[in-house]
Amino acid sequence: MAVRMVLNADFPKGKINKNIYGHFAEHLGRCIYGGFWVGKDSPIPNTDGIRNDVVDALKKVNIPVLRWPGGCFADEYHWRNGIGLYENRPRTINTHWGGVVEDNSFGTHEYFRLCELLGADPYICGNVGSGTVQEMQEWIEYITFDGPSSLADLRRANGREKPWKLPYFGVGNENWGCGGNMRPEYYADLYRRYSTYVKNFSGNRIYKIACGASSFDYRWTEVLMREAGKFMDGLSLHYYTVPGDWKSKGSATEFDEREWFVTMKKTLVMDELITKHSTIMDRYDPEKRVGLVVDEWGTWYDVEPGTNPGFLYQQNTLRDALVTGINLNIFNNHCDRVHMANLAQTINVLQAMILTEGEKMVLTPTYHVFDMYKVHQNGQLLPVEAENSLYSYLDDSIPQISVSSSKDAENRIHISLCNLDPNSGTHINCELRGAVKSHVSGTILTAAEMNAHNTFDKPDNVKPAEFHEVSIVGNVIDVHLPPKSVVVLTLE
Ligand code: AHR
Repeated sequence: MAVRMVLNADFPKGKINKNIYGHFAEHLGRCIYGGFWVGKDSPIPNTDGIRNDVVDALKKVNIPVLRWPGGCFADEYHWRNGIGLYENRPRTINTHWGGVVEDNSFGTHEYFRLCELLGADPYICGNVGSGTVQEMQEWIEYITFDGPSSLADLRRANGREKPWKLPYFGVGNENWGCGGNMRPEYYADLYRRYSTYVKNFSGNRIYKIACGASSFDYRWTEVLMREAGKFMDGLSLHYYTVPGDWKSKGSATEFDEREWFVTMKKTLVMDELITKHSTIMDRYDPEKRVGLVVDEWGTWYDVEPGTNPGFLYQQNTLRDALVTGINLNIFNNHCDRVHMANLAQTINVLQAMILTEGEKMVLTPTYHVFDMYKVHQNGQLLPVEAENSLYSYLDDSIPQISVSSSKDAENRIHISLCNLDPNSGTHINCELRGAVKSHVSGTILTAAEMNAHNTFDKPDNVKPAEFHEVSIVGNVIDVHLPPKSVVVLTLE
């Protein structure tokens, strides 16, 4: 039986902020060191120490914003350690991630150079857990002040004449956990205090993001909105898809249909979380001025056998592609409240876009979905009503199809579809209302195996292909969606 859908092209529901397609890079494992940064003297082709291959790959997907330096690392990061001559930078311990020595060779100047090369907006997360208000205020002055202050002069002495633009700043990370184990009441007061000194210098305007809840912690959102809502522009939310439990999360590549099903089901929870946190925010902010910033999301599995458990290195399969497509559809559909989202993490950590090994680089299935979905960036969300079918496993079931749609500046309509069922394809019969289109084209990402993935030896095992099982006759679009697939259609 066909799944019936209606797409109302003349009822746009608001802009899909391109920052929903954002990323996150922490000083964790090989994300920064070996992933982005190889140093100026490396034989790996680089620009000012930053790998050219990863910059080219990320520019291709229009990476809009990059969150840095953590994560848990942010609340033990002291920015002065990462400026000036490399040989003078202190060596500190990364206590959260493997206890390795951090040589601070990648610091503020290197991060802004990276953003410049990527064409991405900077989003810095400041240190509330172990840093002072003064340290936070001075970092912002160092970065953004145009005048002749001592800190701005120090920036100049370190090689940067003009201030940088810093559009997004997070006041702490997971302050309910690794960022200080605080209660929401205490953090809300600290947020009010620290954020007072996050100043707008020299025409720079900062969108201030408060540390938000973990997953189902609705009380955190309630207290933060009640006590500090009027002082913030964004409130974060962290939610990871973990197929097992935190002790035994499951393998990234060795899994059966039960784990596939659980992964899909737990990914769909993101919709419930956004709906419920937003409903609380609505009570204090009915105009939806404050954005929900999902600045950590993605799959979290057991590390690859033989790798450092503190480095969180995991492979990435077709299952992760589905997780990506579902989450991005959810964010698109909640674009009235979700201003930004940042996949954790860009390279070599958790649900990565890119894996590297020495000079080799491989693009993951997750990367390909971001590439396919980039057409939604800054588009107008179009509502889709669906009479969904079910994907059943044993005595449980979830919706089979995930969908979102947008209209771009050239009036093209894009529809992204995920079929969560690894066994059954389905027919979709979609009625297009409010627009006349005569041509449809598409791209698909799928594979024969649920755990298909790309390796350094077989980098193109999973890659997008042209999609032909679609037609448009009058105002009816007919699609045959294969099992375990992600498809993006364009109507012109
Ligand atoms: O992304 C890995 C870690 O997950 C981050 O450092 C932290 O914020 C979260 O718990």
